[in-house]
Amino acid sequence: MAKLWGGRFEAGLDEKTEKFGASIAFDQKMARQDLKGSLAHVTMLATTGILSKEEAEQIKAGIKKVEEKYENGEIDFKIENEDIHMNMETYLHAEIGAVAGKLHTARSRNDQVATDMHLWLKETLDDTLDKLHNLRQVIVNLATEHVETIMPGYTHLQHAQPISFGHHLMAYYSMLTRDFERFDFNIKHADISPLGAAALAGTTFPIDRKETAALMGFGDVYVNSMDAVSDRDFILEFLSNASILMMHLSRFCEEIILWCSNEYKFVTLSDAFSTGSSIMPQKKNPDMAELIRGKSGRVYGNLFGLLTVMKSLPLAYNKDLQEDKEGMFDTAETILTSLDIMAGMLSTLSVNESVMAESTEKDFSNATELADYLAAKGLPFRKAHEIVGQMVLECTKNSCYLQDVPLERYQEVSPLIENDIYETLKSRTAVERRNSFGGTGFEQVKMQISLAQEALK
Ligand code: ARG
Repeated sequence: MAKLWGGRFEAGLDEKTEKFGASIAFDQKMARQDLKGSLAHVTMLATTGILSKEEAEQIKAGIKKVEEKYENGEIDFKIENEDIHMNMETYLHAEIGAVAGKLHTARSRNDQVATDMHLWLKETLDDTLDKLHNLRQVIVNLATEHVETIMPGYTHLQHAQPISFGHHLMAYYSMLTRDFERFDFNIKHADISPLGAAALAGTTFPIDRKETAALMGFGDVYVNSMDAVSDRDFILEFLSNASILMMHLSRFCEEIILWCSNEYKFVTLSDAFSTGSSIMPQKKNPDMAELIRGKSGRVYGNLFGLLTVMKSLPLAYNKDLQEDKEGMFDTAETILTSLDIMAGMLSTLSVNESVMAESTEKDFSNATELADYLAAKGLPFRKAHEIVGQMVLECTKNSCYLQDVPLERYQEVSPLIENDIYETLKSRTAVERRNSFGGTGFEQVKMQISLAQEALK
């Protein structure tokens, strides 16, 4: 069949060229958005008198029929029609004949594709926010159960100070809340209508861009037609936000993977989120956590892919921009699935509380307690630090821990040390007493949880 743009051409397109240039294999994901945009456009063409009412009604009825066919899976997308826009227009033509050709008055595929992408991303951002909200709730629920579960807190992956597992979880809640805010802000830039910018310069027809924007549910319109057709910042923002989100999920997954290992045994994943080995019968692997960690790579790749496509691109539309779609679709699919899997994994996780707590009993993560104890009794902290450092060294040589040192020895080291030191050195006490604002003290963790519960309402 002849191309919709075929007038200027004498010869047909080379087959390879046709396939190379076509985007229908992937942009068919925006079929509904494309129809929505066309419906708004033709409605406006009638209210402004650019088309007659009858023409517009015919076209609208045609679009509805195409929509029905699409929903029934009766549309067969063709490479020869290149992209979603021309595939849909070709179907419209088949439905209503020549009047279909009037739909494209005062419109270009350049503003059309930008419109479709804005519409598509707006919906995806809503889904992302829903799933992020759900995951945040799952984390808060788990944290609520584990306010008083004691675990080692790490720096340099070495036992540092004992903490509440709930506190550890709420750190991830905080990260995901910032992610939520970033995706939420992303809506502001997705919610602008490019329709009516036409190819790049606007149009001589008396169109009403605010009407089409309102019909499609956009809050705003681009004020510069060249920016409208060549802006992909809203997608770059999505890819950046998604990259930061995946970075957070990958950190969480990495910890879960460590916690499942024989060396830690802090948590056990439910069977539904683990897999076995084809050779080693004993294996139960945290594959899903590994996969989420791994998928952060493709999301970063998609961000860098589009940043690179956009770099140095002259105004306004260039075919390079067709490369904006696959990375966006892939990223959306990746983050939406990862958020679901993560929520499922965490809500079915068993926490081995005693193992976690015990691992803070055979270490020196209470050394700061002893130093703080001396400092609170008036010794300069630096001096206290030195004394405790020497005690740790002594214990290491004697294969014992600070809580095993007899009181007589402590009093030789410093008469400030009394019998209450043993209570002070307990990890539970250490956690409970860290009550500075935002600390791991139980009261502080409860405070974070109640703020989160309020925010999630
Ligand atoms: N499939 C094209 C894209 O995704 C639609 C816009 C085509 N415009 C053009 N002037 N060739 O970018």
